[in-house]
Order: sequence, then C-alpha cells, then structure tokens
Amino acid sequence: MERTLSIVKPDGVERGLVGEVVKRFENAGIRIVGMRMVRLTRDQAKRFYAVHRERPFYDSVTQFMSSGPIVVMVLEGDRVIQRNRDLMGATNPKDAAAGTIRKDFATDIEKNVVHGSDAPETARTEIDFFFNAIEICG
Ligand code: CMP
Repeated sequence: MERTLSIVKPDGVERGLVGEVVKRFENAGIRIVGMRMVRLTRDQAKRFYAVHRERPFYDSVTQFMSSGPIVVMVLEGDRVIQRNRDLMGATNPKDAAAGTIRKDFATDIEKNVVHGSDAPETARTEIDFFFNAIEICG
C-alpha cells in the first residue's frame, strides 16, 4: 500500500474542477485519506518547489502556486504514485494522453490543474509538507 500527494492547483480550484478531480480518483478506486484547502505564501511555494530552484520556470511556478487557494490530498492505494500520474497525464497538456486530467482540462504547462508526487521519497516529503499524522485517516 502506497501514499502520494495530489494538489488541485489554483487554476483547477478557480475553474471549479475539484469535484471532477476527486471523482476521477474515486472512480479509479483510489482512497482519499487526507484533504484540505490552503493558500500558500510565496515563500511556502518556493520551499515546496525547491528542487526546481535552478530551473527557468521556478519564479513563475511559485508565483502561480501562491496566486490562489489549492486543494491538497493524500491518496492511498496499491501503486498509487504511478496510478495518479497515469490519471494526470504528461506535465505538458500537449503531450498528455487522451482521457487524462491534463489533456481534458489543462491550458498550458504551468496551468496544468494538478500536481502529483513522482516517487516514494518525494511522496513522503510532500505529504509531510502539508499534513501531520493525525490529519491522515489511514
Ligand atoms: P508539477 O508537476 O507541479 O511540477 C513543477 C511544475 O512546474 C510543473 O508541474 C509545471 O506546472 C510547472 N512548469 C512550468 N514550466 C515547466 C517546464 N518547462 N517543465 C516542467 N514543469 C514546468
């Protein structure tokens, strides 16, 4: 049994896509064991995306991620890290497969509706960034 962090980004919340994303997880048999709405400060967004600090999009993505509320979720299930990534589709919606969240809803590589952890180690770090143990209903 694995856990991963999912974020509905500011564009997804603003456009009323929280329910759509939740429905896709539930329809796939993925359990939501933690969930909260939060608005990141710029500084918190910089810390969350610190692995990307040398990348040209760092300023822009941290600005965007602190521009409005987000919904953070802990997902649980068998191979859930990869299954969530399959549901999301490629980072760039132009490359995303048909039927994925990003293909269906993302407007560009930055406003791509959802974030998902990419590996077990990042999943642990990212879940710990937003949730403490009593906020997860395991
Ligand atoms: P995410 O999975 O949240 O991780 C980093 C985010 O930076 C990524 O999704 C994109 O939304 C955003 N981003 C913007 N430009 C790029 C880019 N050129 N390559 C990768 N990610 C980018």
